[in-house]
Amino acid sequence: DMTLTFLGIESSCDDTAAAIVTDGGEILASVVAGQTQLHADFGGVVPEIAARAHAEKLDLCVEEALAEAGLGLADLDGIAVTAGPGLIGGVLAGVMLAKGLAAGTGLPLVGVNHLAGHALTPRLTDAVAYPYLMLLVSGGHCQFLRVDGPDEFTRIGGTIDDAPGEAFDKVAKLLGLPQPGGPVVEAEAAKGDAKRFSLPRPLLDRPGCDLSFSGLKTAVLRLRDDLVKAQGGLHAQDRADICAAFQRAVAEVLAEKSRRALEAHPVKTFAVAGGVAANTELRRALETVASRAGAEFLAPPLRLCTDNGAMIAWAGLEAFKAGQRDGMDLAARPRWPL
Ligand code: KG4
Ligand code: ZN
Repeated sequence: DMTLTFLGIESSCDDTAAAIVTDGGEILASVVAGQTQLHADFGGVVPEIAARAHAEKLDLCVEEALAEAGLGLADLDGIAVTAGPGLIGGVLAGVMLAKGLAAGTGLPLVGVNHLAGHALTPRLTDAVAYPYLMLLVSGGHCQFLRVDGPDEFTRIGGTIDDAPGEAFDKVAKLLGLPQPGGPVVEAEAAKGDAKRFSLPRPLLDRPGCDLSFSGLKTAVLRLRDDLVKAQGGLHAQDRADICAAFQRAVAEVLAEKSRRALEAHPVKTFAVAGGVAANTELRRALETVASRAGAEFLAPPLRLCTDNGAMIAWAGLEAFKAGQRDGMDLAARPRWPL
């Protein structure tokens, strides 16, 4: 049997995850333990709490993934682990566990860049051929990548301040809505009129594919304060209209920058990943842009768009087949640009 089977370990943010994946693209198991509840009272991910939860849950996630796949460690061909970028305590917990497993079993160890994991996901889900264009949009990331190989990424543009998911979360907070803000703002937007308020389209007047979202967030803050001042409070319809205007602005800006990225890099496939890719208005806008550019639009299933172990196992497999092997000196890197 020539099939390779890898364990993938992910713990760089607030999801503890382990998965078992073959180089044929089969996901034999994928376990994700979120921490949303643990951080709920703090308005964001608390690094120390995240690190402790990863340290507590990681080995259980690995055990569960092996059980789900009906495999033992001896059936694996390698261990892939996120070695950065991310919150260092969580990354360290994952890297230490992976080193322990590799040392105990003699299996090869492969350190994976978390962003490469996201960027290579279209190859796991749809066997997409190189080169392709990728838009990564999440709570922590926002960039356009051209992918030419398992270790050949070109950053074409990205945010100069906040990530769009972060902006969705902050807008929800400003309007007194719960976290995570993305899905809530989308639900509000569905009841709103996107044309009642006009919000800026940051950096649209500048050439290139860079993006900015912090001004948009400030504009929402001002809009809210003006309404509160004028009417003594916010009505439900105001909230919905603000959400609709905000979502429209984000979708339009991302669509226009995607159009430019595809114009400069006319590849066959345009893929999107990250939690914000769940947004229906954004997906539609990107789909339209891709089809006008004659490219295939690809959005992997959401569970593979957000943080997971399967994308790490897959990126590890690709790197392993390209010859990458790491030793006990594999470093955990808080910063690690692609
Ligand atoms: O990829 P992800 O699960 O985690 C990282 O940030 O790495 O992305 C989470 C982000 C959050 O900011 C969340 O508000 C946003 O994705 N999000 C959405 C939607 N669902 C989740 N943003 C807009 N519309 C959505 N439907
Ligand atoms: Zn991520």
